[in-house]
Amino acid sequence: MNLLLLGRGKTGSLVAEVAAERKHHIRIVGAKDNAECAALTPENLARFDTVIDFTGPHCVLAHIEACVKAGKNMVVGTTGWYKEMDHVRTLVEQHRTGFIFGPNFSIGVSLFFDIARIAATALNYDYSGQIFERHHAHKADAPSGTAIAIQRLIREAAGTHEPLEVTSFREGEVVGLHEVVFESAADRIYLCHDAKSRRGFAEGAVRTAEWLIGKKGFYDFKDVWREL
Ligand SMILES: NC(=O)c1ccc[n+]([C@@H]2O[C@H](COP(=O)([O-])OP(=O)(O)OC[C@H]3O[C@@H](n4cnc5c(N)ncnc54)[C@H](OP(=O)(O)O)[C@@H]3O)[C@@H](O)[C@H]2O)c1
Repeated sequence: MNLLLLGRGKTGSLVAEVAAERKHHIRIVGAKDNAECAALTPENLARFDTVIDFTGPHCVLAHIEACVKAGKNMVVGTTGWYKEMDHVRTLVEQHRTGFIFGPNFSIGVSLFFDIARIAATALNYDYSGQIFERHHAHKADAPSGTAIAIQRLIREAAGTHEPLEVTSFREGEVVGLHEVVFESAADRIYLCHDAKSRRGFAEGAVRTAEWLIGKKGFYDFKDVWREL
């Protein structure tokens, strides 16, 4: 594939490495080359099959609008824009493009989501629950997109409960640690996912771009990761 990668930061640079290893052609664009979406004109985009975004909440919506309006398929790893989900879904449907997003493209986290979904039953048996997340000090959004996804899936799995409280910590260079704790008078259940590196995100993002070839529609990574 010819891939355009937005964001040459901690995750984007690894995505570029993995894409090259998997024999894709990749052009990587950082903030300086993309002021006011300068790299995302329809003429520029015409050369690429898919755009992958690992930038930040301040610019991702503008990227999505430019790419989708130009008819380009997109893989969006950037978090912090999910309040605009309905707007983006409508845009994707109007322009008949392929679009996939996910707060966390790692297979391990996808499995962790399934485990949390099963454990959510605890809330129906007099357990209380809490979510904790830790990330590096430079992370722009809090709570993390992954923590928000865990909060939502537990509420859906358990029924009508209030969302669990999420406590965020920002410190050092923590790649991403998520804990779910269920507590009753009798015992305590701990679930923990601790990312050792960003490699899992990067591999998931590139495999997702491969999966999206030729597809149209609005997809959530959690619904398709088993097909990668
Ligand atoms: N879905 C997942 O699996 C996953 C995994 C990890 C992270 N994330 C999310 O991905 C995003 C990036 O995370 P990160 O840790 O890689 O952040 P990061 O290291 O801060 O990198 C962000 C990069 O975006 C670039 N950028 C900013 N504005 C831009 C623009 N308008 N056009 C092109 N590039 C632009 C910055 O470029 P300059 O350096 O040139 O300013 C920077 O290199 C965050 O939202 C994070 O939550 C998702």
